[in-house]
Amino acid sequence: MTRLKGKSALITGSARGIGRAFAEAYIREGATVAIADINLDRAKATAAELGAAAYAVEMDVTSQASIDAAIAAVVAKAGGLDILVNNAALFDLAPIVEITRESYDRLFTINVSGTLFTMQAAARQMIAQGRGGKIINMASQAGRRGEALVAVYCATKAAVISLTQSAGLNLIKHGINVNAIAPGVVDGEHWDGVDAMFAKFENRPLGEKKKLVGAEVPFGRMGTADDLTGMAVFLASADSNYVVSQTYNVDGGNWMS
Ligand SMILES: NC(=O)c1ccc[n+]([C@@H]2O[C@H](COP(=O)([O-])OP(=O)(O)OC[C@H]3O[C@@H](n4cnc5c(N)ncnc54)[C@H](O)[C@@H]3O)[C@@H](O)[C@H]2O)c1
Repeated sequence: MTRLKGKSALITGSARGIGRAFAEAYIREGATVAIADINLDRAKATAAELGAAAYAVEMDVTSQASIDAAIAAVVAKAGGLDILVNNAALFDLAPIVEITRESYDRLFTINVSGTLFTMQAAARQMIAQGRGGKIINMASQAGRRGEALVAVYCATKAAVISLTQSAGLNLIKHGINVNAIAPGVVDGEHWDGVDAMFAKFENRPLGEKKKLVGAEVPFGRMGTADDLTGMAVFLASADSNYVVSQTYNVDGGNWMS
């Protein structure tokens, strides 16, 4: 269990949910992990729970100054940056005729600009270090298709898949692998919020949408954050050195692509 021994990782949005599970898995494999989140109190609590190999970093992926400061903090603390997971994102829901510019701008700024400019800052650092690196972007099955009420979030995740393709092609000459993970439906606080939004727009009782989406997964249930950690470790390790610009579906069979 030491595939990431001595590596320095930064995971955005890792105070909770999938990012937190990735941090735990990376630490088990020997890495040091920056729990980078806009919610500093929760990041500190998470880092304290994960032990000495985790430390909290305040980071808002919508602010260039915050991105630069977070990368600098990681370099100061861990001596460099080997692995970036672009995990922070927001979800929203509305029929086409009710989408607001405010929601559109907020989702694209966090999910797309946040991913691109954090990736850029990490890549600059990795190139300067001259020892390659691994960048993993969190896409979604939503980026593979349309969903009637989820147009903007779907579009942001399609953009993440596209950015992963281009960045991977551009950065592999520096030994930097850029790849992405496309989860399906993953239970947790995030999906509690999604369920509540569907309850409002589809006039359902709370909890019903979760049951429906879980029952539709070919595997037979919603995913858990831990279902994704095997792929996250693989893409962060030397095992994936020849893997470039790919987005992997880890979704219990929800989507074929
Ligand atoms: N949960 C799912 O079903 C699911 C499915 C497909 C893809 N995903 C993707 O996986 C990733 C993680 O999802 P999750 O379910 O763990 O989400 P989550 O909402 O539980 O966690 C997101 C984290 O990001 C942080 N964050 C929000 N805005 C930020 C910002 N501007 N800067 C830094 N941090 C910020 C939040 O504080 C939170 O800790 C996201 O990219 C999401 O789109 C999730």
